Amino acid sequence: MSQPLITLDFLDTPALPTPATDAATHAHEPSGEVRVNPATRTGKSRKLYIESYGCQMNFSDSEIVSSILFNEGFDTTDSLEGADLVLLNTCSIREKAEQTVRMRLSQINGHKKRNPGLLVGVLGCMAERLKSKFLEEEKLVDLVVGPDAYRDLPQLIQQVDGGQKAVNVLLSREETYADITPVRLNSNGITAFISIMRGCDNMCSFCVVPFTRGRERSRDAHSIVQEARDLVAQGYKEVTLLGQNVDSYKWAADDGSEQVNFAQLLERVALISPELRVRFSTSHPKDITDEVLHTMARYDNICKYIHLPAQSGNSRVLALMNRTYDRPWYEERVQAIRRILGEDCAISTDMISGFCSETEEEHQDTLSLMEYVHYDMAYMFFYSERPGTLAARKLEDDVPLEVKKRRLAEVIALQQQHSRLRNLRGVGQVHRVLAENFSKRSDEHLSGRNSQNQVVIFPKKHYKKGDYVDVLVHESTTNTLLGEAI
Ligand code: SAH
Ligand code: SF4
Ligand code: F3S
Repeated sequence: MSQPLITLDFLDTPALPTPATDAATHAHEPSGEVRVNPATRTGKSRKLYIESYGCQMNFSDSEIVSSILFNEGFDTTDSLEGADLVLLNTCSIREKAEQTVRMRLSQINGHKKRNPGLLVGVLGCMAERLKSKFLEEEKLVDLVVGPDAYRDLPQLIQQVDGGQKAVNVLLSREETYADITPVRLNSNGITAFISIMRGCDNMCSFCVVPFTRGRERSRDAHSIVQEARDLVAQGYKEVTLLGQNVDSYKWAADDGSEQVNFAQLLERVALISPELRVRFSTSHPKDITDEVLHTMARYDNICKYIHLPAQSGNSRVLALMNRTYDRPWYEERVQAIRRILGEDCAISTDMISGFCSETEEEHQDTLSLMEYVHYDMAYMFFYSERPGTLAARKLEDDVPLEVKKRRLAEVIALQQQHSRLRNLRGVGQVHRVLAENFSKRSDEHLSGRNSQNQVVIFPKKHYKKGDYVDVLVHESTTNTLLGEAI
């Protein structure tokens, strides 16, 4: 099935292009992409159009929602025209992400005026944050459903069919949707995401996620391994284990007979098949253990890439952010990665510029941390105050916007240098690439990633999607390596 992945300019685009204009995007990042679930034509009586914003968690939830509604008589459609139900799966991470959704709703409002029978629902993090206020603010919305309430959708839709508005934003301590097989609508048939946990207990002071996604809970390890096995049986070659903080994964059998931590889960998935690549995201610097790093070292099929968001290079700012580690701790974790996995392991980060009270020197510390680590890639943002968070309640958003933007520009410029250098280092080397898709620029080229998550493009010759190909790289840009299969 093709991958209808629409990227719109006005979205909450991260400051730097994601590594992938070509291959798959990063697992756990609000990437600025909008995804529309593609059409299924099985002759169901009603048509669902679902558009997703934000991080991979949301894209993955939309596949669960499609699966639930498929059983209720809905086919999905990839166009607004002809849809009976429109769902927007929304993101609240920064103000701009919410503005994007508001703009989209006003477009849909025009469409609804021409099609009065159309039902409009809002799912995901904005639904959870705004709750029934959404119904007052956006008159066209019929349905507001939070991330833990998707099982209730059939009943809520019935309520809307009966002429009422419907809201369910209850958060759960148990829901993991473990038993629902997502319809892999957005898949290339080669790589897939598996949610291993939901929610977050970390309470970073800038972050809205603990409020929109609720308490952290880990999914049954057996259901995760089974899902990965099923994917292998269907021909998939790569899985990414997904969670806000995968290193704090912890699952125990009800009778206490079994306990599984993240390193052990990673090993179980890696053992399914040496042909299956395993990735994971996101790692919180406070939780990533040597045990995880040693497990990565033991298995060739666990990709040598760690997304380890620092957020800032200054210990005072990190304390205000409530990240619960300081700079020396972060540097020690980077040393541990280098010690156990060598220079071969790629590291990426997220950085926030202009957090409350950040001084010029503290901003310089972020730049110096970047010099220390030499990140392979980074997602960079300026601070955006989110209502209800600890920072919004307790700290003043006092760095002027122009200063935030200038600091961010400096962070981006430095990262671009590092990314270019990193890619230059790849030239002249042979990289093992999993071919994922045709290149966006030409059907004569395949695009995939190496273990370090660098995008590699090469002439396809006789190779096809799903093949592992050894590519000799002869050229690089900031984001991509170009080469020839050998
Ligand atoms: N769980 C992941 C982060 C998920 S949100 C982790 O802890 O690393 C993705 C990124 O968005 C964060 O890492 C942070 O850099 C950024 N972000 C979150 N809230 C933000 C805010 N209020 N303003 C700017 N960037 C923010
Ligand atoms: Fe947000 Fe922090 Fe949780 Fe990441 S770890 S989702 S930044 S609260
Ligand atoms: Fe993801 Fe955005 Fe929610 S980043 S968890 S969809 S706030």
